[in-house]
Amino acid sequence: MSRMEGNHKLPAKVFHWGFILLYVYGIFKQIDDISELENSRLLIFEVFFAILFLIIVMMRYFYMQQFETFLGAHEPVPLVHKYIAKIIHKSMYFCLALLPVTGLLIAAMFTQGITDGPIQDSILDLHGFSADLSYILIAIHIGAALYSRIKGEGVWSSMVPLWNEEIPSTNTKIIKLITLENEYFNRVENFISSLKK
Ligand code: HEM
Ligand code: HEM
Repeated sequence: MSRMEGNHKLPAKVFHWGFILLYVYGIFKQIDDISELENSRLLIFEVFFAILFLIIVMMRYFYMQQFETFLGAHEPVPLVHKYIAKIIHKSMYFCLALLPVTGLLIAAMFTQGITDGPIQDSILDLHGFSADLSYILIAIHIGAALYSRIKGEGVWSSMVPLWNEEIPSTNTKIIKLITLENEYFNRVENFISSLKK
C-alpha cells in the first residue's frame, strides 16, 4: 500500500484531535466532591457535557470501524501486533464511554436523593477507575505512537500533522530491534496457530 492511500482521512483526524480537547477539558473540569452537585446549574451542565461526550465517543467508534488498524504502515504488520493495538484502542473506547456513563449514573442517583451508601460508593469508584485507566492507556498509546515513529513505520504520519516526513529508520540498532520484534510476534503467532490444530 502506498503512503498516500494509508493516510487517515480528515474526519478521522478531526475526531482524533478534536476529541482530545474535549477529553482534556472533561478531566480538568472534574468535580472534587459530590456536594458540588447541590449547585443545580453545575449538575445540569455536567449531565449535558457527559451526554455530548458519550455521543461523540460512540460516533467516533462507529466511524472508525471501517478503517484498518495501522492504516499507514508501509510494511505488513504481524497479526499479533495488530491485535495488541486493537485491544488497546478498544480499551480506550471502553474507558471513554464508562467515564460519562458512570458520571450520568452519579447524577441520576443524586437527583434521586442517593448521596451515600455502598451502591453510590461503587459507582464513584468505577468513575474514578475509568479516569485512572484512561490515563494509563493513553500513556501506553502515546508511547507506542512515538516508538513507531522512531522505527519509521508510517503509522504516525497517517494521523499526526507534525514531524511526518517519515521514512524507515536506517539506524542499525533500530533495524535489529525491529527484526527481533517481528521474530517475537511471528513466534507468538505460530504458537497460537499450533494450539488451534
Ligand atoms: C501526542 C498524542 C497522540 C499521538 C501521537 C497519537 C497517535 C495516534 C495514531 C498514529 C493513531 C493511528 C493508529 C492507527 O492507524 O492504527 C491513533 C489512533 C487512536 N488514538 Fe491517538 N494519539 C495521541 C493521543 C491520543 C489521545 C489523548 C487519545 C484519547 C483521548 C487517543 C486515542 C486514540 C484512539 C482511540 C485511536 C484509535 C482510532 C481507531 O482506529 O478507532 N490518542 N493515535
Ligand atoms: C465525560 C464526563 C466526565 C468526565 C470526563 C469526568 C471526569 C472525572 C474525573 C477525572 C474525576 C476524578 C476521579 C478521581 O479522582 O478518582 C471525577 C470525579 C467526579 N465526577 Fe466526574 N466526570 C464526568 C462526568 C460526570 C458527571 C456527569 C457527574 C455527575 C453529575 C460526575 C460526578 C463526579 C463526582 C461526584 C466526582 C467526585 C468523586 C469523588 O468524590 O471522589 N462526573 N470526574
